[in-house]
Amino acid sequence: MRRALTAPVAMPPDLYGRPRRDLFLGAISALMNGHMAAVRVLRRSTPTGQPVDRSLVVVVSGRSVEAHDDNVVALTLTRPSGGVLPPWRPGAHIDLTLPSGIRRQYSLCGDPAVTDRYRIAVRRIPDGGGGSIEVHDALPLGTELVVSEPRNAFAFAVPGYGSPARHLHFVAGGIGITPILPMLRLADSLGISWSMVYTGRSTDSLPFVPEVIAFGDKVTIRTDDVDGLPTSAELLTGIRPFAAIYACGPAPMINTLRTGADALADCEFHFERFSAPTIVDGRAFTVELARSGRVVDVPADVSALDAITSVLPNTTYSCKQGFCRTCIVGVLGGTPDHRDGTLTDVERADHMLICVSRAQGERLVLDL
Ligand code: FES
Repeated sequence: MRRALTAPVAMPPDLYGRPRRDLFLGAISALMNGHMAAVRVLRRSTPTGQPVDRSLVVVVSGRSVEAHDDNVVALTLTRPSGGVLPPWRPGAHIDLTLPSGIRRQYSLCGDPAVTDRYRIAVRRIPDGGGGSIEVHDALPLGTELVVSEPRNAFAFAVPGYGSPARHLHFVAGGIGITPILPMLRLADSLGISWSMVYTGRSTDSLPFVPEVIAFGDKVTIRTDDVDGLPTSAELLTGIRPFAAIYACGPAPMINTLRTGADALADCEFHFERFSAPTIVDGRAFTVELARSGRVVDVPADVSALDAITSVLPNTTYSCKQGFCRTCIVGVLGGTPDHRDGTLTDVERADHMLICVSRAQGERLVLDL
């Protein structure tokens, strides 16, 4: 997100390393979250200072196939005995711990006003590390799972309620519809001016098409098999002046959209992408894995996580973008080049997130 409206701009807090944080939105958000924040402060640690585990046990109480090519399944998650779940706002996600121990993050794509269930949707990714395959093939109805409380790395500021934008423009690529769907519902229910472009490989690959087209002519659906790869102008179909853009999808779509947003005089650009960020100014280094004594070469264009998982396939990770903390590792030697926006200075003294951070020198020794 790089361009502000001419009025003071409300920028969501950013967990992707983009630096600006808007004070006004912060104040609004603080008010909206006041009760929960107070509760969380009280629950943040035990008397001994140990972190409190705020995970929840839920049960898979619903399953549905949501794309015609059968590659997207939606799960409904409820408490085993029913009851209210922690609240969330559009853009939020939960961490799901699968029975195999794999941990993955999924956006909540249901209705925040429905307080007794969460809905997530998962695209089958055959070469994605196994998490989506397990969700598709090994989570029948009744399966109990551990999930985190909802967290929000893609905060949504509503015009008139924390944002000076006059129009919202949404862009979703395929499964990127999941965080966008609750935003559409909220914008529509508040009578805010909005437009949307929904894109993907083919109509059969797009999940939740019936829910999306129910919004009528505010939505433009275009697919690569019919229309070719989208241009930035096509991704901005329907946008109006003083817009805030919210986009979720693959990196090429986000990059194309960013080019179009650059050419607009007054807009905000908020995005969430699927893939790890491109490595900028990467230098090769080596990692010594202290527990086994193995040494791993990390090429300049490869993350430490990817290099390490080639020899330690069970290394835990989730977002690959430096915000979920799943890949945190102790540093026993060398100086990390911290590239996350998540760890505190105290944590950075002897830990790093190996999905995005690298080495300042030629060698790191990690507690792996
Ligand atoms: S995998 Fe999420 S912070 Fe590294």
